[in-house]
Order: sequence, then structure tokens, then C-alpha cells
Amino acid sequence: MTAPHHRPRRNRRTAALRDLVRETTLTAADLIYPVFLHADAVDTPIDAMPGQTRWSPDGLLRTAETALDRGIRAIVLFPKIDDSLKDSTGTQVGNEEGLIPRTLRSLSERFPELTLITDVALDPYSSDGHDGIVDESGEILNDETIEVLCRQAVTQARAGADIIAPSDMMDGRVAAIRKALDAEGFQGVSILSYTAKYASAYYGPFRGALDSAPKSGDKKTYQMDPANRREALRELRLDESEGADMVMVKPAGPYLDIIREVRDATDLPVAAYQVSGEYLMIEAASQSGWLDRKAVAMESLTGIKRAGADMILTYYALDAAHWLREEG
Ligand code: PBG
Repeated sequence: MTAPHHRPRRNRRTAALRDLVRETTLTAADLIYPVFLHADAVDTPIDAMPGQTRWSPDGLLRTAETALDRGIRAIVLFPKIDDSLKDSTGTQVGNEEGLIPRTLRSLSERFPELTLITDVALDPYSSDGHDGIVDESGEILNDETIEVLCRQAVTQARAGADIIAPSDMMDGRVAAIRKALDAEGFQGVSILSYTAKYASAYYGPFRGALDSAPKSGDKKTYQMDPANRREALRELRLDESEGADMVMVKPAGPYLDIIREVRDATDLPVAAYQVSGEYLMIEAASQSGWLDRKAVAMESLTGIKRAGADMILTYYALDAAHWLREEG
């Protein structure tokens, strides 16, 4: 029997040693909480996403307070828009009295220390359920859509958004939104671009939550093919040159290699979105008693951070912040 010369296990011998040599640390400050809201006065549990709620205006204020109490300092807002307000060009995105602008005003007044991130895309407002304008042939119109996205971004900035996050995947939208924001005096409002957003089946539950699934076709002509890696770097170069302040990879867990590629290729902060399907796989398996919910959720977040994400959008944000605090 030959004794090994190298013994990596020495560094794992005690909890204190493991803490000393740990390479990745997750903190509440890394997390962004995606929240759903509607104009109704009642908070409604979301059938399509057990554990998540469509908040009333009051409920959202309470959730924001809970988030801040736990050390979560950024939220991203997703509105469930009434069907009667949807149309083919998403007209409501520019309504200063719409759900999102009203909510931004009340959140920023009440919690000035909370970073407010808004989604830019037409899907919650589109009667077609697409992120862009659809023509008669079913094509998603790029340049026409960008004009509407710019209006949406400016409306959000005016109402108090700190970070504008275009998730629509139209070409050239970052440059156009930057220009539109600057023209209106919002030089200080950031753009977090969904740089590598894949056409993913993991978004299914989210579309149920917002009732925003495409009425026909799919999103493959604008969202990226899950098989592609180099294309993410092309999108990254474009977003950098167009003036994005931060870039995002989405989904996160099945795309850890892309997070790492993007991290290594840019000096910009990198975000990753642990999407609804990733969250629900862990929820379902832990409800069946097959997985340890807390341990797997924290491991999934640590893995995303280790892959190179500086910040993570996750439905586990509130729980994770609570667990991190418990562990001290
Ligand atoms: C659409 C949008 C989607 C998500 C965030 N913004 C879905 C889609 O592209 O169809 C998905 C988030 C999730 O699944 O948690 N603009």
C-alpha cells in the first residue's frame, strides 16, 4: 500500500478549514427577486408557479419591505396585464398611468434604497403573446418593435426605474434604448441587457404566471438556439458596443458554460436568471420528498455564482437570504 503524497482532503478536514478555502461566496446582495404584480386588490397565489404570488399594489409594498429586511436590495417587476388592455402593438407600454409606472412611483417613494429593475418587452401587453409586433405573416418585426420598446423604457425611467432590462431579443435595441433614455435626460438609468437569452422550454411556468404565452408560433426567430455557444459571444460584443451596462445569460442552470464564456469575455458585470422551470424542478422534487429543498436550492445558486455570475435573478431570493442569515 503506497501512501499518497498529495492529500487534498486536509483542506476539508474541519468546517473552519473549509470556510477558509471556499472559493465562492453567495450573499443576499448578489440576489435579485423577480416579482409578479397585478392591478387587483388581492394577492393571488400563482397556479402555474406554486410558491409565487401575483401581488396587489399593497401586497407588493409588503414584499418589497420583506426583501429589504432580508438584505435583498433589487427586484425586477413583471406585470400581469388585463386582457382588455392588450393589443397587437402593446400600446399600454407607454401609458404613464399604467400598472408598472404607478408601481414604480409608489415603490421608489416608499423605498428609495431599493433598486428597481423593469422588464422591457411587449409580451405582457401583446394580444399575440410575443415580445415584438407580429405582422400578418406571423413575422416578428424588429425595427418597428424597437420604437415601442424605447417608449416603454422611457416611461419606466420617468416613473423611477433604476435599471432597464430588455428581454425581447430584438437586434439593436440596446443602442436605441440608450439613445432614447439619454435624449430624455435619463443618463443615469442603466441597461441590463438580456444578452444571451435562449428559446427555452424552462420559461413555461412564467408564461402561465403572466398569461403571456404566444398565441401562435414560438420565439425561436428572436431568442437563441439552445445549441449555440459562439452566438452568445456575438450578442455580447454587440451589447457591449451598443452601451449595455450589464449583461445577462438566461436560463442559468442548463447554461453554466455560457455564463463562464461570457464572464471570461467581458469586463461588464454578468447576471444570470434562474428561470421559472429551474425553480419548479427543485420545488416539485422537494415536495415529493426526493430532494432536500434548501440544500439543492443553495447548491444551484452557488453553482451559478461559481460559473461566473455576479448577480442572480431567482425566485429563491427571499428564502436564500433567510437561509444565509440563519447560517450566519
Ligand atoms: C419575456 C420573458 C420571459 C421570462 C422573462 N421575460 C419569458 C419568455 O421569453 O417567454 C421568463 C422568466 C422565467 O421563466 O422565470 N419577455
